[in-house]
Amino acid sequence: MEERRLGPVVGLGTWNSFQGDVELATEVVSAALDAGVRLFDTSPMYGAAERTLGVALGSRRPEGTVATKIWTPSADEARRQLADQLEWFGGSVDVEQVHNLVAWEERLPWLEGERDAGRIGRVGVTHYDPGAFGELGRALRTRRFQVVQLPYNPRQRECERELLPLAAELGVAAIVMVPLGSGRLVARGPNPEELERLRPYGVETWAQALLKWALSDERVDAVIPATRNADHVRENAAAGSPPWFGPDERRFVASIVT
Ligand SMILES: NC(=O)c1ccc[n+]([C@@H]2O[C@H](COP(=O)([O-])OP(=O)(O)OC[C@H]3O[C@@H](n4cnc5c(N)ncnc54)[C@H](OP(=O)(O)O)[C@@H]3O)[C@@H](O)[C@H]2O)c1
Repeated sequence: MEERRLGPVVGLGTWNSFQGDVELATEVVSAALDAGVRLFDTSPMYGAAERTLGVALGSRRPEGTVATKIWTPSADEARRQLADQLEWFGGSVDVEQVHNLVAWEERLPWLEGERDAGRIGRVGVTHYDPGAFGELGRALRTRRFQVVQLPYNPRQRECERELLPLAAELGVAAIVMVPLGSGRLVARGPNPEELERLRPYGVETWAQALLKWALSDERVDAVIPATRNADHVRENAAAGSPPWFGPDERRFVASIVT
């Protein structure tokens, strides 16, 4: 069972973060690695994010677990996307996810072949839209995916109904996208005094409370908050250690959001 786990860990998302800004990416990624962050999520859908992440990791690539994606209905384009990734990430991708379920049934045998050849570590699948969760569940039930990526925060809890229980049952590692609601949940947080009862859990800030809320669900392996700010990286990384919240603390955090 432990074999499948990626965490519980705080990783780093890269959607909308760096565009092509290598200097900024290098500062943020270096701060992340120094703070113990190991999981980096990216995609061909995120413009120059993959290439920029590859440059930012540089010689420290072996310290990181790179989770990227294949995002295309075309088999030829899929091969091109992987070829680029192998170049940018030192010859292997740790987690290769089918982005938004695009052509997942066609891509799967090829991805498994690449995994058998050692160029991919684990095969995953993602979707952001609860309307696609039925199909995401169908993909997981093939038992051919080792990782699923889905949205989860106190305002988006649809995955609790079927997908998180299913992932736990099948031993599929769950990566949580948008743990801060794409920034909306942190734009206006509670007063620091209101978080007093979370201090024994190592929580100093509202962002940390939200990240620990997700990671304290035992079915969750990783959260991947995105940031352009090295201080935020360090703050977020600090939420990735025990003690974890119990049901009362999780209810308390959710009550602040709702
Ligand atoms: N597969 C998919 O369909 C899919 C879809 C969406 C996202 N994702 C993945 O999930 C990752 C995360 O999702 P997301 O980028 O939408 O949103 P998110 O991580 O929920 O929120 C990111 C926002 O939170 C802010 N933030 C981060 N840490 C903070 C802190 N400590 N204090 C205050 N603000 C903080 C960031 O601003 P600052 O830069 O100012 O810190 C940024 O605006 C993406 O980057 C991507 O890798 C995947």
